[in-house]
Amino acid sequence: MSTKADLIVGLQWGDEGKGKIVDHMAQTHDYVCRFAGGHNAGHTIVINGKKYALHLIPSGVLNPNAKNIVGNGVVLSPKDFIIEMEQFDNLDGRLFLSDKAHVLLPYHALIDQARERMKGDKAIGTTGKGIGPAYGDKIARVGHRLGELLNPPKLTAKIMAFFEMNKPIFDAMKLDAPNESALLAELQGYKDVLGKYICDTTQLMWKIMDEDKKILLEGAQGTMLDIDHGTYPYVTSSTTVSAGACSGLGINPKDLGKVTGIAKAYCTRVGNGPFPSEDFGAEGDLLRKNGHEFGTTTGRPRRCGWFDAVAMRHAVRVNGVDQVSLMKLDVLDGFAEVKVCVAYEVEGKEINYVPYDLEEATPIYKSFAGWDKTEGVRDFDALPDTAKAYIEALEEMIGTKMGIISTSPEREDTIIR
Ligand code: IMP
Repeated sequence: MSTKADLIVGLQWGDEGKGKIVDHMAQTHDYVCRFAGGHNAGHTIVINGKKYALHLIPSGVLNPNAKNIVGNGVVLSPKDFIIEMEQFDNLDGRLFLSDKAHVLLPYHALIDQARERMKGDKAIGTTGKGIGPAYGDKIARVGHRLGELLNPPKLTAKIMAFFEMNKPIFDAMKLDAPNESALLAELQGYKDVLGKYICDTTQLMWKIMDEDKKILLEGAQGTMLDIDHGTYPYVTSSTTVSAGACSGLGINPKDLGKVTGIAKAYCTRVGNGPFPSEDFGAEGDLLRKNGHEFGTTTGRPRRCGWFDAVAMRHAVRVNGVDQVSLMKLDVLDGFAEVKVCVAYEVEGKEINYVPYDLEEATPIYKSFAGWDKTEGVRDFDALPDTAKAYIEALEEMIGTKMGIISTSPEREDTIIR
């Protein structure tokens, strides 16, 4: 019998506050593994007054006893990864990069930005980091895997041939082919730093599971940004849901243990696309201000609104969530009334599921009495009665227990039930 891996996934449109929970759980796990996404993700952690920005390196890097695996489901920008690594001392023996992860190169970011410009007001609002083009190349079978970085001359030749073949497309995007010798030097530089970390992480996953290590799988983005189960095409290009943990690391569904879904007590989204419970008024502004809702990766103001219980039920089911960790409850402190989207109206009919086109859905709200203060509360019984009633109503609506409730950014300000 091998051990089962704990999994953390986002249940909304990303930015649910996974960082605080992953950081907390990384302290008690031997391995922390990323399975999807790239450096579009991001969270900042402050330890002993020093600020660390994590985009792709798993959060286990902050626990000296934990090891970190970047799985095959990830797209990795060597340039940005190396910059991120510079925040840390020697990672030898603590960092393992899948030879099957795909390489994201600067031209992917240029293509991403060019496509967004060409889409005009239909733009997705991507992070501009090249995530879509890198995954696009992977699926179109013209991408490059990290294992190829071990032979820079061969990879250079392949990339030059790719540019030659796609010249008309790149010309239309006003994108020049790379300079061959500069590209070779660039790839050689990446190999020099990253080469020793590249390995078969699938075998490693199996080995550490057989050794009964404690393993944490760290999701990125959120369920509503999933390529299949999110608000396509306004999504990211990876499988962000729990199924992605299997394909993105080479493990099987029976290897998954407890699934903790992370959700904010309200809702936010960055970029374009449907968001039925968005609040365009003063209360939305207040959520943004109180919740410091500005992107970690791009600095963009986040769109803010109310907890969407319909989308949450969808997310709970897609991911097989065992418990929800409810984040940023304190951001709702001081609101006279707190709203929850309990159903949608589509073409005059009330529905209680996520429809094909969420753009068509109008939210139906239920209001709850607000409360003065939950900030810093560490015990469920010490919460104001109205806050307890709000949480219990959410549990009832989504059919899952809120096992963890966070009442401030501080690690200790967490209710464990
Ligand atoms: P991309 O992942 O850069 O292609 O962006 C696609 C969509 O996902 C855009 O709406 C982004 O704002 C959103 N997105 C990507 N990464 C994150 C994240 O870590 N948090 C929140 N939204 C994200």
